[in-house]
Amino acid sequence: PTSLSGRHFLRLLDFTTEEIEYLLKLSREFKNLKLTGTPHRYLEGKNIVLLFQKTSTRTRCAFEVGAMDLGMGVTYLDPGSSQMGKKESIEDTARVLGRFYDGIEFRGFAQTDVEELAANAGVPVWNGLTTEWHPTQMLADILTMQENFNYDIKGKTFVFMGDAANNVARSLMVVCSKLGVNFVACGPKENMPDAELVKTCEAIAAENGSTVKLTEDIKDACTGAHVIYADVWVSMGEPDEVWAERIRLLEPYRVTKEVMAMADPSAIFLHCLPSFHDTNTTIGADIAERFGVTEMEVEDEVFESKQSKVFDEAENRMHTIKAVMYATLS
Ligand code: CP
Ligand code: NVA
Repeated sequence: PTSLSGRHFLRLLDFTTEEIEYLLKLSREFKNLKLTGTPHRYLEGKNIVLLFQKTSTRTRCAFEVGAMDLGMGVTYLDPGSSQMGKKESIEDTARVLGRFYDGIEFRGFAQTDVEELAANAGVPVWNGLTTEWHPTQMLADILTMQENFNYDIKGKTFVFMGDAANNVARSLMVVCSKLGVNFVACGPKENMPDAELVKTCEAIAAENGSTVKLTEDIKDACTGAHVIYADVWVSMGEPDEVWAERIRLLEPYRVTKEVMAMADPSAIFLHCLPSFHDTNTTIGADIAERFGVTEMEVEDEVFESKQSKVFDEAENRMHTIKAVMYATLS
């Protein structure tokens, strides 16, 4: 059996296919325990801290509920309420928190920040999203894909539509390559993952019998696909000025009914969330007014359709993050 005891969880490139499969299997076991109401306080007496430099709903709550179900204590530090990065360096913060806590979650900007935390904490550090990577998200995405394709995902095709240079797209490219799922990044050439990472993933995919494709052509990308995935067009931490140009570039890549109709009849729609699928949010209404668009990365009709599994996917964040904590702390 695979042991991930004491390991950090900073990016999926650091994990083997077997280790990722082990985490997915563990996630299914934890999901079963949760759904049958079976207590699983396996980490009683341990404590974790959650450091957020950006906002969150799912990731924070997944770590909190996951930790409480495992019997652990949790401290949440919001973007403004610790000394880190202001009066104290990340290195010193890590050395302090490592003495109090058994594990540290970090969401922030640079990947080098979470790496510095990990290098100095002396306890497992989990990456809850940086500008470069969002590794816990992919476990939930893949678990959701498995659930919809009878746990047989090798050789299936996964299409990411939109800003394929972002943290979510890059992480998806890695996980698909590791698991032998064909990955397609579909978007404008300006928003593609960097060439070096593409090369790395192509080699990993080849070892696992799958492919990586970058294309601007929606028909080429989506015909016969099994998963169509969208994320926001502008990520947290990007300046406000990018909106106009990003909307102009990415509008052709909105996930519409027509796009879903090109895919395999069994295809599902996934989105890491939060999503601008309607204008019923303060931000959505503001964008609609400023840029004259009423739909963003996905049409409301697709988001609310039977093919959309986004809330199963959101729920799976909790089961998968629980698995990551258990695997690294036990
Ligand atoms: N998908 C995701 O990471 O959601 P939050 O930003 O709400 O944590
Ligand atoms: N790409 C998005 C993901 C949010 C979960 C962002 O970084 O804001």
